Amino acid sequence: MLSGLTGRVIEIGAGSGLCFAHYPASVTEVVAIEPEPHLRQLAELEAQRAPVPVRVVAGTAEKLPADDGSFDAAVVSLVLCSVPDQRRALTEAHRVLRSGGQLRFYEHVRSEEPRRAGLQDRVDWIWPHLGGGCHANRDTGAAISEAGFCIERYRRFEFRPCTVLAPVSPHIIGEAARP
Ligand SMILES: C[S@@+](CC[C@H](N)C(=O)[O-])C[C@H]1O[C@@H](n2cnc3c(N)ncnc32)[C@H](O)[C@@H]1O
Repeated sequence: MLSGLTGRVIEIGAGSGLCFAHYPASVTEVVAIEPEPHLRQLAELEAQRAPVPVRVVAGTAEKLPADDGSFDAAVVSLVLCSVPDQRRALTEAHRVLRSGGQLRFYEHVRSEEPRRAGLQDRVDWIWPHLGGGCHANRDTGAAISEAGFCIERYRRFEFRPCTVLAPVSPHIIGEAARP
C-alpha cells in the first residue's frame, strides 16, 4: 500500500501507528490524523521509531486539519469502514491532495456476491457496536470513484483470519489519483 510513495503524506485514521514502520525513505513527512486519544498516544510512540518524520495530529477524516492541495498522497488503511460520513471523508482527502496526488487504500468492502452482501447488510445492526463504528457492507471502491478519484490500480482479495470475521473478509488494496 505504501510502496513508492514520495513527498508529504497524510495518513487518515492512523490508529496506533502500525503503518509508520513501512513508509519508504522517499517520504519526507507523514502527518498522521487520529481522533482517539489513547490510539494517538500509541501512535506518538510509534512515530519516534519510524524511518521517516511522522507528526501525529488530533482530527477527523471529515474535517482534516490541512490546507487545500498540501499533500502528495493520502493513506487510508481500514478506516473508510468506520468513519461516520464516508462521502465527506473522501471529499476531504480529495481537497488536501494536490492535482495528480495519490490516494492509497486498504479496506474491507461490500461483497460482489449478492448473498454475501445480504449477510453483510444483516449483520450491520450489531457490527458497528462490536467494532468501533465499523460497517461491514460499504462499497468503498465505488465511493472512491464517486468522490472524483480515478482508480488506477487495485486488487480484490479475501482475508479471513477467523470465521467470525467472515462478514469483513472481502478486501481491496490499491491506488487512485486525484485528477
Ligand atoms: C481499524 S482502525 C485502523 C487503524 C490504522 N489505520 C491501521 O491500519 O492499523 C480504524 C481507525 O479509524 C479511526 N477513525 C474512526 N473514525 C474516524 C474519523 N471520523 N476520522 C478519522 N479516523 C477515524 C479510529 O480511531 C481507528 O484508529
